[in-house]
Amino acid sequence: MKDKIEQLISESQKAVITSKEQLDAFKLKFLVKKGLVNQLVQDFKNLPSEEKKKWGKDLNIVKQKVESIFNAAQESLAGESENSEQENGLPGFYSELGSRHPISSVVEEMTDIFSRLGFSVATGPEIEDDWHNFSALNFADNHPARDMQDTFFVDKDIALRTHTSSVQVRLMEEGKLPIRSIMPGRVYRNEAISARSNCFFHQVEGLYIDKGVSFSDLKQTLYNFVQEFFGPNTKVRFRASYFPFTEPSAEMDIYLGTKTESDKRLTKGTGWLEILGCGMVDPNVLKNCKIDEEEYSGFAFGLGVDRIAMLKYGVKDLRTFFNSDKRFLNQFVNI
Ligand code: PHE
Repeated sequence: MKDKIEQLISESQKAVITSKEQLDAFKLKFLVKKGLVNQLVQDFKNLPSEEKKKWGKDLNIVKQKVESIFNAAQESLAGESENSEQENGLPGFYSELGSRHPISSVVEEMTDIFSRLGFSVATGPEIEDDWHNFSALNFADNHPARDMQDTFFVDKDIALRTHTSSVQVRLMEEGKLPIRSIMPGRVYRNEAISARSNCFFHQVEGLYIDKGVSFSDLKQTLYNFVQEFFGPNTKVRFRASYFPFTEPSAEMDIYLGTKTESDKRLTKGTGWLEILGCGMVDPNVLKNCKIDEEEYSGFAFGLGVDRIAMLKYGVKDLRTFFNSDKRFLNQFVNI
């Protein structure tokens, strides 16, 4: 017994405790249920009773010694970590640097260009009523775009907006003329999802209403935009088209050529990529919004942002913009 007691004391005194790990190891070796101190207690219990009298006191001393070594080491470690926090300050949190989403960058660039032409920015709700999304814009009651095929209905007369033209209606209803605004925003359509189309996408629409606005103003504005955004030598063409809310209506294409694989893919081999719809605001729409259609006229246009972003950044699959994969998004940190 004597040897065991002496050995335990010397072992516990030799222990070096300068870290939390060493402190834990000390506890595990000496102080847990199956540790050395308890083993000694068990040995003690098995001694004949006259031996017990002899060693009882020493056993208590051993227990106290080991415990006090542990407590002292624990206290000094706690003090040390407090000091080091005071000296060095609290450890900092590492937070990753975010980046602007490529779609936001394109919207911002477009907004910049139009604001230099005197357009302000207007926004509106993504959940719209039938009037602002369709009826005020001269969609006939039975127009196929109201069909469940194209529109996500929330309720009978409430839907996710299918275009930001709904914001144009809201602006016109406010009645502050003239109007020269763009409406950037997300829109929703119930379309089959693929690399080139999604059930939601982004638009920058524009509206200009004043006395004597003509189709040539519309063309000039759009030419100006294309030259600024795509470069001064960009070729464009207008094709006649149809929208219920504009008359006449047109679509504008830009020429990408057929040289590279990405040009071909985006233009289906024609070289031309459609980037917007436009036209002169239909007098019925002005009337619906209580604007005197004899006195005022205007033009409107709607740019599709997502395809332009695909083109600008050479992105092959539209869906990669929206699946929040940091490996994809990190590529845009410096733009
Ligand atoms: N709102 C149309 C669309 O979403 C685009 C457009 C806007 C066309 C304004 C003409 C005038 O397709």
